[in-house]
Amino acid sequence: MKKILAVDAVGCLVDYNGKINKNIKRLIDKFKVKKIILTNVNDKEKKKFLKNIDYQIFSLKHQPDKTNPKYFKKFLSQHNLKPNQLIYFEHNIKAVKSAKSIGIITHHYNGSLKSLENFLNLFLDKEQSIPKKNEKNFHYYPQHPIVIGVGDKKISNFMPCVWNTALSYEPFMYGISVKKDRFTNKILKNVKFFSINFLDFKHVRFIRLIGRSSGKLIHKTKEFGIKFSNGLNFNVPILSDAYLIFECEKKYEKNFGTHTLFVGKVKMIHTKNIISRKSILDTSKISPTLYLGADHYIGLDKKSLLNLKSLSFHKSYSLKNK
Ligand SMILES: Cc1cc2nc3c(=O)[nH]c(=O)nc-3n(C[C@H](O)[C@H](O)[C@H](O)COP(=O)(O)O)c2cc1C
Repeated sequence: MKKILAVDAVGCLVDYNGKINKNIKRLIDKFKVKKIILTNVNDKEKKKFLKNIDYQIFSLKHQPDKTNPKYFKKFLSQHNLKPNQLIYFEHNIKAVKSAKSIGIITHHYNGSLKSLENFLNLFLDKEQSIPKKNEKNFHYYPQHPIVIGVGDKKISNFMPCVWNTALSYEPFMYGISVKKDRFTNKILKNVKFFSINFLDFKHVRFIRLIGRSSGKLIHKTKEFGIKFSNGLNFNVPILSDAYLIFECEKKYEKNFGTHTLFVGKVKMIHTKNIISRKSILDTSKISPTLYLGADHYIGLDKKSLLNLKSLSFHKSYSLKNK
């Protein structure tokens, strides 16, 4: 979306002698967008106050002033703009309120260059949008998908789940969010245990396969010859190729819109012996799978590993926080 930066003249870009505020000029020039100076001045005042301004200038010569929302409505219609296309800063609080009242994104400039810069960085460098119904957005990925294993008397089933997270150290709790219409969701509602399986990037095609097929219609384990065994707990299918497995006892389930969050207490951890470098993963041996959304996967850049352990903590971070 095309955005335009509107700048208050006297009190912001220039002072009452018409002298340019160099800090503000330098700041706004950093942003490669069209700039328009919004002012109330008539021709005589323009010569006095705006003599040093070489940006485009808009004025209604007090008919009305910016404190009246009609000023901004007129500006928008003359320039064929929607209110959210205009990013505006202004020193006069009444004019700020007037611009805001018709939906213009407006900052009250009170002399702080830092807060003005933060405002411009947010609204000129980034696009704003309100989440739309049924619109999916995956810019918050990558995240690592695990594979959920569930089983009842009749079937063992596996599905990848990227919406997963540890929730507590003590007790060790783990959460998975599963869409209500998944076959796995139906089984999870009726069983007491499930497994969480972590797979190396070399199994990425397998992850994709079981995430684009459904236990509703096939026995994935037979169809794809999945290697698995049962865990120590009742009916917990476990992937033989996983480098890390949690056997979980289901403790909570709660619906959130399209998905159900199942929370399990980790009862048993199976760790392949090569994976560990003390408590963290040895990335020279294991490469976790990361998911970018829409069937895109990405591996780890191992060279980017950074150990900051030798840095001291800030004094606000007491040992109690550890
Ligand atoms: C990488 C990947 C991650 C996925 N993450 C989730 C997820 O977090 N939650 C979910 O409900 N479905 C997720 N899915 C979709 C299910 O895995 C998919 O619908 C699968 O076919 C369900 O299997 P089922 O019908 O046998 O339960 C994911 C799929 C893929 C490929």
